[in-house]
Amino acid sequence: TIVVLDFGSQYTQLIARRVREHKVYCEIHPYNIPLNQLASIQPKGIILSGGPASVYATDAPLLDPKILTLGVPILGICYGMQLIAHLSAGGKVHPAVEREFGSAELIVDLPIPLFADLSKTIDVWMSHGDRIDVLPDGFHPVAHTHNSPIAAIADLDRDIYGLQFHPEVIHTQDDNRLLANFVYEVCECSDEWTMQSFIAEATEKIRTETGGARVLCAVSGGVDSTVLAMLLKRAVGDALVCVFVNNGLLRKNEADQVLSTFRELGIDVYYVDATDQFLEYLSGVESPEQKRKIIGNQFIEVFKEGLEQIGQIDFLAQGTLYPDVIESVSVKGPSATIKTHHNVGGLPENLPFKLIEPLRELFKDEDGIPFPGPGLAVRILGPITQERLDMLREADEIFIAELRKAGLYDEIWQALTVFLPVKSVGVMGDERTYENVVALRAVTSTDGMTADWAKIPHNVLGVISNRIINEVRGINRVVYDISSKPPSTIEWE
Ligand code: XMP
Repeated sequence: TIVVLDFGSQYTQLIARRVREHKVYCEIHPYNIPLNQLASIQPKGIILSGGPASVYATDAPLLDPKILTLGVPILGICYGMQLIAHLSAGGKVHPAVEREFGSAELIVDLPIPLFADLSKTIDVWMSHGDRIDVLPDGFHPVAHTHNSPIAAIADLDRDIYGLQFHPEVIHTQDDNRLLANFVYEVCECSDEWTMQSFIAEATEKIRTETGGARVLCAVSGGVDSTVLAMLLKRAVGDALVCVFVNNGLLRKNEADQVLSTFRELGIDVYYVDATDQFLEYLSGVESPEQKRKIIGNQFIEVFKEGLEQIGQIDFLAQGTLYPDVIESVSVKGPSATIKTHHNVGGLPENLPFKLIEPLRELFKDEDGIPFPGPGLAVRILGPITQERLDMLREADEIFIAELRKAGLYDEIWQALTVFLPVKSVGVMGDERTYENVVALRAVTSTDGMTADWAKIPHNVLGVISNRIINEVRGINRVVYDISSKPPSTIEWE
């Protein structure tokens, strides 16, 4: 195991992912993890992340200096390197005269194993205000850039290294050779942590944990719950009970697609069509937060009712992923508080099962276009009715189909259609119409925290608009949303 100690860098998770790409298991822990807890993990190496602070700020997150004496190889990145210098005798860190952001040319002066198989000059990514002015005792300067005379340091006796730049973001040039060198050459890890080894271990673990008892898994058709169900099927076979609740707020044909996917996977699904119940409780409700609450509560009700028919269940499996588990010291993004993001898979803890979370060690690579738990409910502004749902489903299907046809689907992070609570006048044939408006929303983004509206070509928008107005009864106007996030959000509710 390699441990990354998090000092609040936006790249902390990236470091862990890069290490795992080299088939070495890696965990993230907060910088202030107690020493004995850290030691009990028996890490083969420790990476200190970067961070926004300055080592001499009064509230700077500091490192327990005893960690430097554990005898475990250490790699400090950016702030992590400054900490090593700051906490070691003789080292001095100061604000740099010129802050350094972006790419820089690194010149390697001392060919140590950490830089094995790398050329003498490397393009690196810099992002720092402070720099090391005086080397701590026992350390050698290893590399420099134009602005940082000391851009990499090494204490070869103790295997403690520091890099002023961010090796985790430069993988395009060097295949992350630096991190590979650290884990293989310095920490002597082997490349054994693969998806195959994970599946084998997880399967064993689930078997031991559940001991043949029945395991319940709520599926939505999304990647997480589908992967979870497949893993459980492998581990416990027929003791797996999958439940799929149709809340009536899914996209066109979505429920059928989910059921047929599971049929193809050979996994039986207990299907509950609770459309009427959800729509009844949502009837007349306009407030977005109220909608989310009702959907969350109703899901639990339906689930409980279903359980009465399913019978005795001992374990509930949840698709919790590693980013949900990491105790982050980073500041949460703004969207966390703007909307209560209710995850329909999220059940309360007072249900009568033991919880298992077999995916909690895993990251997820971005997959298709996300679909929110509350579904189309937050895409109908104002009250939800069956009629509005039907119009929205038809329009949305056309939008997505045309994006795929134009080859734009993969470039877009999320695309959706919103039903607006206004009517407007139109003319069809000789007749005046007074009908509904839908807004199309498509954004580009990397993580959904910030987003820009997608520059879909006008002719494609034209085709989409024509098709929606011609084919969807009740809609006579289509508009395109050209707002970025922030200040807007991706969804309209
Ligand atoms: P916003 O609208 O906040 O959306 O910019 C950011 C991302 O979150 C999704 N989203 C939700 N997901 N439950 C979910 O599971 C929710 O209540 C919810 N609201 C928004 C949204 O689709 C986008 O991907």
